[in-house]
Amino acid sequence: MRDSEIVNKIKEKYFQKFGQSSKPEQVRVFRSPGRINLIGEHTDYNNGFVLPASVDKAVYFVIEPREDDQVILHAADLDETYSFSVEDLSKPAQSWAHYQLGIIEQIYKKGLKIGGFQTTFGGDVPVGAGLSSSAALECCLLFALNELYGLNLDRFSIVKMSQKAENEYVGVQCGIMDQFASAFGKEESVIRLDCRSLEYEYFPFPMQDYLLVLCDTSVKHSLASSEYNTRRLECEKGITILQKYYPEVQSLRDATPEMVETHKDELGDIVYRRCKFITEEIQRVQDACDLLVEGNLVDFGKKMYATHQGLQHEYEVSCPELDFLVDQTLSDPNVLGARMMGGGFGGCTINLVKKEAVDAFEQKMKAAYQEQYQIDLPCYKVKITAGTGEII
Ligand code: GLA
Repeated sequence: MRDSEIVNKIKEKYFQKFGQSSKPEQVRVFRSPGRINLIGEHTDYNNGFVLPASVDKAVYFVIEPREDDQVILHAADLDETYSFSVEDLSKPAQSWAHYQLGIIEQIYKKGLKIGGFQTTFGGDVPVGAGLSSSAALECCLLFALNELYGLNLDRFSIVKMSQKAENEYVGVQCGIMDQFASAFGKEESVIRLDCRSLEYEYFPFPMQDYLLVLCDTSVKHSLASSEYNTRRLECEKGITILQKYYPEVQSLRDATPEMVETHKDELGDIVYRRCKFITEEIQRVQDACDLLVEGNLVDFGKKMYATHQGLQHEYEVSCPELDFLVDQTLSDPNVLGARMMGGGFGGCTINLVKKEAVDAFEQKMKAAYQEQYQIDLPCYKVKITAGTGEII
């Protein structure tokens, strides 16, 4: 669906819910997109590099300040409402409201103040597909409240506070990639983000001959969040061991594949494989960016496959459905690269596919997935769009 169609639908629901506003100029609309990641997985919390982009699937808030201290959150897609006083941040049963409450908590933690507001929000980022609908929600609401209440937050603060909302209120120990990509996205460009310094650079992504297609396994294994936290701990174990020999190693960003190889025995099989993958993956992002600059998508695609191999066998965050989808592409001359994307244990694969072959590719993938798992495989052709902003 186009932006304007979705916005009109959400606006319609807003006015059905809240009636016409006495000050129509105060009703504003904000948008924040979901994200993809080309390469650099699980590197963000290791202070490494990532290469995400924001896409044409987004979250929208139609929002207006209130005279009183009430906050009324209306989830358009669920048609559920949660109301509270802006001072009361107790955790409600509705888990979808945790993101918004987490944002308000961060505003207070900064020593800032807001009044009441009412909003209807919704969008077309598939939930649970690994496109970070949660980061989009957080960035969108914080951006909106920043505008409504003149909080004077810059984009970096919006990103960091949104990540903290997720870490502290929602309780997910995510890195910074998702919020950064949602807030800093740029049309037709991928962002190379250095998660240590937060320096970033845009690289144009050539989409004349190839398209990015997501294949959504439609599964989310329950392991996802516990294993995510376990991986973080395993990386920390690796750092503690490497630090004994290389005091300068504060994170795996400061380590090299050679260091990891040298201390293979002491690291032990599991931690060794985790550290091997991360140190190689950090380097892979740099190499992949050089290939983009050269316009060499063929070798870029090979890097995507290498990432998948590492995530499957060394970092062990893939699952049979993701591996099946990647395997299907291996002998397809129209696919340059494919890999699982995001945290793992479900969600999407990202595929770099020759433009004229995209429809045939989707049909083939859908048929194979149906036969193997009896599940209809949603496929999304993604366009890279701008990050968080107001829709005027
Ligand atoms: C999830 C997290 C991100 C990142 C990815 C893996 O999407 O939210 O911070 O760690 O997993 O690259």
